[in-house]
Amino acid sequence: MIPVMSAQRATPTTSPTNTMAPAAINETPRVDITALKAAAASDAPVVDLRKYAHFDNTPGIGTEFRAPGDYRDKSGKPAVSFRDMLDDPASLRALGKLVSERGVVFFRNTEISTEEQLKLVHALGVLGGKPDTSGLHVNPCTPPGQKEGDEVARISNSYVFGPQFKRDQSSILLRRVGKMGWHSDVTYEPVPADYACLTIRTVPETGGDTLWASAYEAYDRLSPPMRKFLEGLTALHKGLGFIQIAQKFGIPEFRENRGSPENVGQALEAVHPVIRTHPLTGWKGLFVNREFTQRIVELTPHESDELLQFLFDHVADNQDIQVRFKWEPNSVAIWDNRCTFHTATFDLDNVVREGTRGLSLGEKPFLDPNSVSRREALEKQGVKF
Ligand SMILES: [Fe+2]
Repeated sequence: MIPVMSAQRATPTTSPTNTMAPAAINETPRVDITALKAAAASDAPVVDLRKYAHFDNTPGIGTEFRAPGDYRDKSGKPAVSFRDMLDDPASLRALGKLVSERGVVFFRNTEISTEEQLKLVHALGVLGGKPDTSGLHVNPCTPPGQKEGDEVARISNSYVFGPQFKRDQSSILLRRVGKMGWHSDVTYEPVPADYACLTIRTVPETGGDTLWASAYEAYDRLSPPMRKFLEGLTALHKGLGFIQIAQKFGIPEFRENRGSPENVGQALEAVHPVIRTHPLTGWKGLFVNREFTQRIVELTPHESDELLQFLFDHVADNQDIQVRFKWEPNSVAIWDNRCTFHTATFDLDNVVREGTRGLSLGEKPFLDPNSVSRREALEKQGVKF
């Protein structure tokens, strides 16, 4: 059975204008939930995607599959067809597992439509057991009635989610320092993201790379006393950047019904555990990010500022927990926001870089005190570090 069916979008209830009237459009694409849940509950062993030609980008994060016919591959393994995987629940289940373990997975020479991006991340989330109430995220600033669908995020180096929201980057001196961009997607929502799929459709000749960092490795590189301290803390996340955009461009209201019944309201804020357990892998990861985390709830403002600064730098400064990906035409990146951070590289001058992203919502973040770190779990399986 083919799990990913033709999308039949709800007819938008708003006209395509640039005004931000609240809209409760649920455009979650139709996927065959029954087939996906059956695959998720199957006793059959998860397909090992490592039987296909691939390489790990770094020891701790990132796996890239070789495109069919890639002259660089000497493994003798067959190349996997990403497009065939889209219609196979068993392969998608394996892909979701791999993404959650490796943080981010890359494919080359693969065309993917915006509709397929939405279906893919939603299917991965369903296969991973996300709540039935979690659909696809609608960004609070997305103009209603986009031709691609309101749940498609348009990614550009010159604007934020819509050409009318221009970035201030005419001069290199106005761009923020690169390390300031590290984040996990939409952590200001009570129900934040699990899987994301990004492709860059207008690829610059050079520059505009994306970087990801492992939240598992970030946790593993903290001392046991620091880990224990952080596990007793929660943090306030807030979408301040979007609030500033709304003020700057006169947006009267943010979008409501942003993919989950809990992702409503105009505050764009949520409190999450500082260390969270990944529901699929069972591994602990650091869950604060420079873009959205405002303060540690249980600490004084001064203590919170100092600790967050350390944790943000811990992610940005450790290039050995990061992977840097160079985009080519028809490259696809799929990542899990529950165990990674990412940032674009703003190194382009008068060059366009534009793409599209689909974003699935997961579950409310939680910490299972009995869960372990990635390295602890792998050591129990015999991996030596
Ligand atoms: Fe992002």
